[in-house]
Formats: sequence, structure tokens, C-alpha cells
Amino acid sequence: MRAARDDSLSILSGRLPADEGTALHAWAWHRDADGALLPARLAGVELQNCLRPMIAVARFVAFAAKELHDRRDWRGCIAAEAAERGTLVAGPLAVAFAKEVRRTAPFVPMLPGWAREDVEVDGQRVPAGGRVVLDILATDTDERSWHRPGEFAPERFVDVDDYEAIATFIPHGGATVADGHRCPGEKLAIAGLAVAIAALSDARVTILGSGLRVNRRRLPTRPASGGRVRSADGAARCPVHVAWGPRRRGAPS
Ligand code: HEM
Repeated sequence: MRAARDDSLSILSGRLPADEGTALHAWAWHRDADGALLPARLAGVELQNCLRPMIAVARFVAFAAKELHDRRDWRGCIAAEAAERGTLVAGPLAVAFAKEVRRTAPFVPMLPGWAREDVEVDGQRVPAGGRVVLDILATDTDERSWHRPGEFAPERFVDVDDYEAIATFIPHGGATVADGHRCPGEKLAIAGLAVAIAALSDARVTILGSGLRVNRRRLPTRPASGGRVRSADGAARCPVHVAWGPRRRGAPS
């Protein structure tokens, strides 16, 4: 914490440069409703909160690597889609694949909470202060709502624009952002995951088959290796940068 306080003070005094318009600058200079600067620790936590949720998406990327490794046909189609569109961003097939990864991955299998008042849910009475657990994975794979629920089938999401209208599709929480327990960053998570899926589908990237086993007794879980990749040509360079980096002339962005 001492380092955080020192860094924050360094920014405020101008000793540590933080460009205007950056998150670092915004949080160092943020003032609360009374006009006071945030305590350095709180500013540091808020700065970290700008990154942390997107880092969590890396868990879904690891599950995506596992599913792509097992599906050459989907990899080929997604790579062709990215090449044709000239971008890794928002390809419909990559987005559909991302949604199916989110539906099936046991990364966030449940959300626990406390009842703030006496409630009745599906005939079950829960007193104020009682524990409520939203079973996300079971809802996302319930055979009453999903056709072939145990099958990984991204095609089920192709042409589905309004996924939020599917009441039983709740990998980022349920109901609405405004009055439910739904993540406001869900669309960003899908966008980031779909870009990663498109990058991982490139033929110049080899997804290693070892370490993709998922221990379902862990929480949160992921494929053991985190999803490791290599350059398909064996070069000791980052395959994603080789394939999509800015230095490659004509590369999609
Ligand atoms: C692995 C990815 C993610 C998962 C599984 C996830 C899940 C969730 C869930 C379930 C909630 C609602 C908790 C509740 O109300 O009980 C939530 C809240 C939130 N999420 Fe995410 N999220 C993810 C990524 C992101 C991203 C990428 C962002 C933004 C860049 C984000 C921003 C937020 C914020 C700001 C809240 C708090 C909303 C509030 O309190 O009103 N999340 N998240």
C-alpha cells in the first residue's frame, strides 16, 4: 500500500508522468462528490478495476482455445471470415462461437447472494438474510430450455442478435443490467472474447493440445494450461503478433 500511496502522490505532484485522458490520470485526479481527491488506495483499486474484468475474460479465452483445438472446421470458417472481413473484430461466426463458449464454460458456475427481504422464488420461501444461489451453468444447459444442451454447437447462436432476450442464457448474470444482476460489461466481454477467438483461429497459430483438461472440482476453473499457443512455423515469436501485428503489411486490424 505504501507504494500505491507514493505513486499516487507522485502523479499529483507531477513527479510521475500520467498523460491526460489516461485511466491513471483520471483516477489520480478524481474527486468525490465533496470535491476531495480519492484516498490513494481507493484510487489504486479503481484503476485496477478498469483492467480486472477484462483480464477475467482471459478465462473464457482459455476455454475458447480448448474448443477451437477440438474443432478444425470452426477454426477454418472463423479464420476465413476474419480474412474476408479484413478485421478480427465482430465477425458473426466468432461472436456465435464466443456465446457458445460462455454458455458451456464452467468458469462462473453460480452466483451467490443474500435475500434482502422475505421472498418467494418458484414456491420456495427465503427469509430476509437467507442465502440464494443462482445456478448459472445449470440454467445455461437446462434441457427444458436448450436443444442438445450438452453439445458444443455455436451454430445455435448464429443469427441471434438479441441474446439478452433469452431468459435462460445468463453467463453474465440474469435479468437486466438496470434492475437485475446482469453485468454491464457483457457486450465488452463478448467483443474481446470474439477477437481472441478470431486471432486463435488463424492458421499461423497452433493451439497446443496438452494441458486443456478442465478440473471441474476447482472454482473458478479453467483448462489447466490456460490455453497455450505456438507459431505454426515453429518460430520463437508470438504467433498472434506474427499473424496480426501492426508490422505485417496488409494485416487485418
Ligand atoms: C469474465 C467476464 C465477466 C463476468 C463473468 C462478469 C460477471 C458479472 C456479474 C454476474 C455481475 C453482476 C453481479 C450482481 O449484480 O450480482 C457483474 C457486475 C459488473 N461487471 Fe462484470 N463480468 C465480466 C466482465 C466484465 C467486463 C469486461 C466489464 C467491463 C469492462 C464488467 C463490468 C462490470 C461492472 C461495472 C459490474 C458492477 C455493476 C453494478 O454493480 O451495478 N464486467 N459482472
